[in-house]
Amino acid sequence: MSKIKHIGIFTSGGDAPGMNACIRAAVRTAHHNKLKITGIYEGYDGLINAKFKTLSPIDVSGIIQSGGTILKSSRSAEFMTAEGRKKAFKNMKAKGIDALIAIGGDGTFKGAEVFQEEYGVPVVGCPGTIDNNLYGTDFTIGFDTACNTAVEAIDKIRDTATSHNRMFLVEVMGKDAGYIALHACVAGGGEAVLLPEQINDLPRLMRFLKEKSTGKIFANIIVVAEGDETGGAAEVEKLINANYSEYETKVTVLGHLQRGGSPTCKDRLLAGKLGMFAVDALMGGKTGVMVGEVHQKVQYTPLNIAGTTEKPLDPDLVRMSETLVI
Ligand code: F6P
Repeated sequence: MSKIKHIGIFTSGGDAPGMNACIRAAVRTAHHNKLKITGIYEGYDGLINAKFKTLSPIDVSGIIQSGGTILKSSRSAEFMTAEGRKKAFKNMKAKGIDALIAIGGDGTFKGAEVFQEEYGVPVVGCPGTIDNNLYGTDFTIGFDTACNTAVEAIDKIRDTATSHNRMFLVEVMGKDAGYIALHACVAGGGEAVLLPEQINDLPRLMRFLKEKSTGKIFANIIVVAEGDETGGAAEVEKLINANYSEYETKVTVLGHLQRGGSPTCKDRLLAGKLGMFAVDALMGGKTGVMVGEVHQKVQYTPLNIAGTTEKPLDPDLVRMSETLVI
């Protein structure tokens, strides 16, 4: 028999498409197992301010296809203080919540880990971030949708770039990781990509542009990860303009549109699976772990390892980004 009777669930940090599918799965799995489940609104701030609502299976109907998060999100500064966490624990106990499911990224997991250590609260994390920068899961919830959004944007930009013989520097999100940049560049047929994980990519880009400028071939799409050490697409544009006047350049920053939209089939399935297994994990006595999927198998990774260990980029995709350009 599970010792857990009442789960609290929340989303925190940057929202990601598929968070709703994850909430839905957790709520219905809890119900299936006769557990109570309460939605905590606005992430850790909701725990501090007691923004609670009991969720029944019907409350999560019709949300599997929606982007964003019905529970809303925040980046809570107060939860980073001992006083904030004390309030959160008090509210949680008063409500009768005895375990938590935290859907979010590395910042969310850091908070969850501290809370668990201080108050002994069982916590299981689900990887919800478009950045795909969590170790212990091949992909995070929202990453696939964000990549598809970026690819769609790149396809459209290419139309106008080609028509005008212009070079576009397309900046994509990803925080300190280059996953979205790499996947979107390769899938969008981009000419080059600048990644935070690689420090030699700027000189390579410059060499590439030199060859192209003499050959009169226009390099149309350069994808720049927002976390690249050059400082982003605008900085790269300045460097290109300073060295190669023959290119007419434009910058497009895709920004938050990458966070919205209906989740892809892949994200819905991943989110649903991880939401279901998060409830199972709590019922089975697991705590302090993130539920992830590696090679199609569910895997549990300690929250601190998931949030702090670097996950290497797929080397085959890196090679493709360098090889499949003319
Ligand atoms: O972590 C998700 C993410 O979208 C990052 O890619 C980006 O750097 C950051 O959040 C933006 O955060 P905010 O919406 O708080 O500006």
